[in-house]
Amino acid sequence: MRYYDFRSDTVTRPTAEMREAMYRAEVGDDVYGEDPTVNKLENLAAQMLGKEAAIFVTSGTMGNLAAVLAVCGRGDEAIMGTQGHTMLHEAGGVSALGGVVIHTVPNLDDGTLDMEDLPKALRTPGDVHEPISRMLIIENTQNACGGIPISAEYTEKAAEFAHMNGLWLHVDGARIFNAATALGMSASSLVRSADSITFCLSKGLCAPVGSVLCGPKPFIHKARRLRKMLGGGMRQAGVLAAAGIVALESMVDRLAEDHQRAKALAEGLSSIPGVELIKHSPTTNMVFIRVASERKLSNEAFIAHLKSQGVLINDTAPCEFRLVTHHDIDDEAVAQCVQAMRTVLQQN
Ligand SMILES: Cc1ncc(COP(=O)(O)O)c(C=O)c1O
Repeated sequence: MRYYDFRSDTVTRPTAEMREAMYRAEVGDDVYGEDPTVNKLENLAAQMLGKEAAIFVTSGTMGNLAAVLAVCGRGDEAIMGTQGHTMLHEAGGVSALGGVVIHTVPNLDDGTLDMEDLPKALRTPGDVHEPISRMLIIENTQNACGGIPISAEYTEKAAEFAHMNGLWLHVDGARIFNAATALGMSASSLVRSADSITFCLSKGLCAPVGSVLCGPKPFIHKARRLRKMLGGGMRQAGVLAAAGIVALESMVDRLAEDHQRAKALAEGLSSIPGVELIKHSPTTNMVFIRVASERKLSNEAFIAHLKSQGVLINDTAPCEFRLVTHHDIDDEAVAQCVQAMRTVLQQN
């Protein structure tokens, strides 16, 4: 049976062009800095994000973790959203491995952190009782709030606040190219005021593995040592970086297609009685829905029924579900998904 997989854009498989580039990749020992393909990817990424330098890492989680560890010492504090991936889904790595204190601020409905809450999250410098505020993390697109693109204006305000208070601004930009596409601007302009950014090659851009952390040269130099410490020194990683180069050179422009399909999917789903769009869906490649709670199906049963119709989705809360469009989701997949959901809800 063929499955249409709407669970995430992380399920994308490398394209034929990527597999060819991986096969042909020139490689060397990247821990020695001698892998020409990794070096090329890092230079390209730094240039596309408008930062001085970049480092290829195994995952978005490693990129974010290395960024925090490069800036914060043990007992220092990183401020982040309650709905941030760094808070919810990175296994508490910054605390577990770095002794970094997490200070959360609620995400607003639009994915941002309230500029009025941020000053309240600051610790008093010089007070021996308190941790030291060192870093602010924002996420773009903000996944849990709806895959919402966060504007350059907001990023600038967050940077201004951070810099006035001696904090480093890191952007978890796992899907920064989706944000830039939705906002109609370059990724580099979108994160100009941020100090560092992690973005993922292995989500909507379809590379099989990897993310890139970008920032100033001394910061990236520190991150290189941290990557080694975390077990991410990958030696002949050019075979992976080759796919990342294809991702940056030929997969960014097509993200608009995923956003179009998310719109078509949202339109189709919202025409089904009992299905309601939530979280401003869709603003990029994610569609969040609430399904009427009076239905008898549990989330698990609903997901299982859809699976039996060839459609895979994830739940995010009781009666709430997320569907993500990506390279492997075509118009037929969208139509099949809408049809499957209509059938399951009619029958239950
Ligand atoms: C917003 C966000 N940040 C970071 C990550 C972590 O990426 P990875 O799965 O490569 O560790 C994800 C993964 O889904 C994400 O959605």
